[in-house]
Amino acid sequence: MRSITLLGATGSIGASTLDVLARHPDRFSLYAVAAGSSVDALVRLCGRFRPRVAVIADEARLPALRQALATAGLPTTARAGAAALSEIACAAECDTVVAAIVGAAGLVPTIAAARAGKRVLLANKEAVVCAGRLLIEAVRAGGGELLPVDSEHSAVHQCLAGARLAERDVRKLILTASGGPFRTRSDFAGITPEQACAHPNWVMGRKISVDSATLMNKGLEVIEASWLFGFAAGRIEVVVHPQSVIHSMVEFVDGSVVAQLGTPDMRTPIAYALSYPERIESGSATLDFTRLGALSFEAPDLRRFRCLALAYEALEGGTARTATLNAANEIAVEAFLGGRLPFADIARVIEETLQTVHANEPESIDEVLEIDARARRTAAQSLQRGRSAAPRIAGR
Ligand SMILES: NC(=O)c1ccc[n+]([C@@H]2O[C@H](COP(=O)([O-])OP(=O)(O)OC[C@H]3O[C@@H](n4cnc5c(N)ncnc54)[C@H](OP(=O)(O)O)[C@@H]3O)[C@@H](O)[C@H]2O)c1
Repeated sequence: MRSITLLGATGSIGASTLDVLARHPDRFSLYAVAAGSSVDALVRLCGRFRPRVAVIADEARLPALRQALATAGLPTTARAGAAALSEIACAAECDTVVAAIVGAAGLVPTIAAARAGKRVLLANKEAVVCAGRLLIEAVRAGGGELLPVDSEHSAVHQCLAGARLAERDVRKLILTASGGPFRTRSDFAGITPEQACAHPNWVMGRKISVDSATLMNKGLEVIEASWLFGFAAGRIEVVVHPQSVIHSMVEFVDGSVVAQLGTPDMRTPIAYALSYPERIESGSATLDFTRLGALSFEAPDLRRFRCLALAYEALEGGTARTATLNAANEIAVEAFLGGRLPFADIARVIEETLQTVHANEPESIDEVLEIDARARRTAAQSLQRGRSAAPRIAGR
């Protein structure tokens, strides 16, 4: 019986995780759940899954959480704030932590879980983009495991199963990208948040949906793959595959390419990570090959989708650069979703921030958080400057 702490329980990954857990009450129990500020949604799932602890990150909402749990007659203990998030991530009562908070807000509890030797199921890709080596070292020091939830990284993990000496035997990792809703659109003017969040194949939270539309999501995934599997940027290729049937591939030095396929449903990689190395039923539909039609592939357009090029450049520059990239992206996406920045200017804000913020490689999580804060301040200033100063992208 695995005991789970679910960070980001009220989100899209949270819902998919709870769906898988509900299918296997004999294998998994829920110790704790956490959300940002959604009290009602958190209490609803407490009623269904009966966790021992519920944490709300927004401390001002603790009285509302306490009150709602009491009104519902639930025995769940209410907690609030950043320290409580880390406490449920490293509590002795749980052995597995699903890290599904969106953004750098998930970094500290994810590190806490890693240091405590938990099995960490990583959906929160921003944590590894910000912390890089520090997260990998925390997992090693804690003696636990880090398993990917992102479908691409789960695919690579599955393709590498049984491969020894991956570094020597593998020529490259091939991450597939759907291309997002604007794959064939030449002009990004006038794009609304609703259009950007209408992903053609996946239903996801709003931030990752916008990241998918700019291809920054793929850029963050290239950085994530580099740290999870130990490959340099030059050995991680992105291929646009609009059908999202192949979730990623590994090309070996003998010319073999191993791919992982499935319907686009996050319950598959979540179930894989929860039960690894066993396999359990996830609820995903099976692929019907007789109805699939053609699978197509194309190179990403790095001129239109500048965010992907910026992510590759940041990866080559080190963790200070990728933390800066991530913070600027979070500020820019939030401004776009709030109607304060045109879609076409997201890449500009990130690029200006990268040109302004230069920091040494972080040696601690506190230093990562300092870089993150600096980059957010710089990106906020860049938002004000408007589009006239847009620099031109170099290379790629
Ligand atoms: N959705 C997918 O299919 C998918 C696939 C691969 C990877 N991922 C990654 O998984 C992560 C979650 O994505 P999502 O799509 O599930 O996002 P989402 O639907 O927006 O959910 C985000 C979750 O994080 C919580 N949260 C937000 N800010 C917080 C804070 N400051 N402190 C604590 N909790 C906070 C939210 O709580 P509230 O409800 O209270 O705001 C919610 O539970 C992201 O890193 C994303 O890149 C997602």
